[in-house]
Amino acid sequence: MRAMTYDRYGDDDELRMTDRPIPKVGPGEVRIRVTRASVNPVDWKVMSGGLDALMDATFPVIPGWDVAGVVDAVGPDTPEFTEGDRVAAYARKQIVSAGTFAEYVSVMADDVAAVPDGVSDDIAAAVPLTGLTALRVLETLAVTKGDALLVHAASGGVGYLASQLAVAAGAKVVGTASPANHDKLSAIGVTPVAYGEGLRERLRDVAPDGFDAVADLVGGVLDISLDVLREGGRLASIADPTVEEHGGRWVWVRPDGERLAQLLDEVAAGRLEVEIDRSFALEDITKAFAASRSGSATGKIVITVAD
Ligand SMILES: NC(=O)c1ccc[n+]([C@@H]2O[C@H](COP(=O)([O-])OP(=O)(O)OC[C@H]3O[C@@H](n4cnc5c(N)ncnc54)[C@H](OP(=O)(O)O)[C@@H]3O)[C@@H](O)[C@H]2O)c1
Repeated sequence: MRAMTYDRYGDDDELRMTDRPIPKVGPGEVRIRVTRASVNPVDWKVMSGGLDALMDATFPVIPGWDVAGVVDAVGPDTPEFTEGDRVAAYARKQIVSAGTFAEYVSVMADDVAAVPDGVSDDIAAAVPLTGLTALRVLETLAVTKGDALLVHAASGGVGYLASQLAVAAGAKVVGTASPANHDKLSAIGVTPVAYGEGLRERLRDVAPDGFDAVADLVGGVLDISLDVLREGGRLASIADPTVEEHGGRWVWVRPDGERLAQLLDEVAAGRLEVEIDRSFALEDITKAFAASRSGSATGKIVITVAD
């Protein structure tokens, strides 16, 4: 099968289009014929070796953790899915190796969700990692009706979904973003605030009593977060492990097919909007990584593998 691979940690020069064996499909697994994958910052962070202290890798690595496609085969005793089912998954595994930037990927059935009619493969591939992270952050913070919640990076892949889910839960959400994204946040019921110079003061203006909870989805904002958190407030970060030294929680997303199915149902019902920035071909992963690194994408970056 065609797959994007790298043979060692490094930069984009390590990426090659190669021919790899179609993965086996073991007990409890489904093999997905990939139609779409999506890019997350973690893909290029893993490639650079940035997660080596946390996760083992077996080379060559096929990068990519988000997938949508069609079940091509099911393993022994895997009654949950049938050949031909449309599915999506956050396909992270214990060992970094057989990712989703390929024509086929095998994934544990527990991590896989059926894609409802009316949800495109582009959207289905864009939801898993960001959506499951958003849910986990909000649960960690126990966000509930009436909470004043600050979301740093509210217009990003995780932030846009977390903000919508928090608004739906009845929280009063303030979100930081570039001014170009402020209308987009206002439209989902979030009070937008520009990040950068003067952020602390702007946050005090919009929330003079402080925030009940702060979700750091970007890193590097710990001091400001602690300053604007009210006494006894809750703090969590997906991008800064030092949050734990200040009583906060460092959140790490886990694969979860059941919760992914709930998210996709919300999308199908029109209650959760997913934004796609643009799509790249599988052989253009380097361009897709560059767009992700630039931080200028407005929405998820999708990889088209097949139709
Ligand atoms: N721990 C976990 O489980 C986990 C899971 C998912 C992601 N992450 C990490 O979380 C981060 C965000 O992921 P993502 O997928 O949401 O990334 P993304 O889609 O690339 O979004 C990044 C966003 O950051 C915003 N931004 C840049 N500088 C900012 C600043 N100083 N203050 C506030 N916002 C700023 C940008 O907003 P504008 O476009 O409006 O400027 C952009 O929308 C990445 O570091 C990723 O690796 C961790």
